[in-house]
Amino acid sequence: MKKLSVNIDHIATLRQARREEIPDPVHAAVLAELGGADGITVHLRKDRRHINERDLELLRKIVKTELNLEMAATSEMVKIALEIKPDIVTLVPERPEEVTTEGGLNIKRNYRVLEPIAQKIKSTGIRLSFFTEADQEQIAMAQKLGADLIEINTNLYSKEKKNPTNIISRISEHAQFAKELGLLVHCGHGINYQNIIPLLRINEISGFSIGFAIIARAVYVGLTKAVYEMKEIINRYSNKE
Ligand code: PXP
Repeated sequence: MKKLSVNIDHIATLRQARREEIPDPVHAAVLAELGGADGITVHLRKDRRHINERDLELLRKIVKTELNLEMAATSEMVKIALEIKPDIVTLVPERPEEVTTEGGLNIKRNYRVLEPIAQKIKSTGIRLSFFTEADQEQIAMAQKLGADLIEINTNLYSKEKKNPTNIISRISEHAQFAKELGLLVHCGHGINYQNIIPLLRINEISGFSIGFAIIARAVYVGLTKAVYEMKEIINRYSNKE
């Protein structure tokens, strides 16, 4: 069955809006797991605008599913990852001014910088993922760097309201390509309760990383229910393999 990793950054965003101690992303992780989340994702940013080291340390202790740490490929972040040992590290690009991650990592351009980082992460048994565009060259480079999985960026798809067919085909073809290379394929960014449905028909996609839509819904219905409802959609519309 396809997996759902719930990104809880925005719980911490709300906390930081008032520099308070609530709401606590650690509580959110527990509630998301109770709702059926198969994993918890957080992005530790250089500017610590939401998640911080305290969150990460506690999450490592209490997450019972899989902890996925999104981070930039910097020496500071690698040091933290090696100490915390999340189950998965997803390398993402990061620009200080961006509101959210803007695109896939340019693995080809940064290959030399990424090589020693990938080796270090893999040597500790952490599974390695790259956030990438649906692009054969980038995916092949991720595999060459020892990736266990890739996360295909669905941002463009989520923005295309009129005719998403071509983008879905592109995602599907690249998911197939990645799977043939032996990679697990996840996708994420901008996925919500409606636009996930066509993606669920792509057999090669085995997991989703979803944040904003679930946290926004949680404001009204509670986090456990918001996660449960997304899981229900995933289970109902997935092709039965
Ligand atoms: N995957 C990656 C790499 C991301 O950076 C984000 C946003 O933090 C997500 C998935 C989740 O995107 P959204 O919050 O739009 O569901």
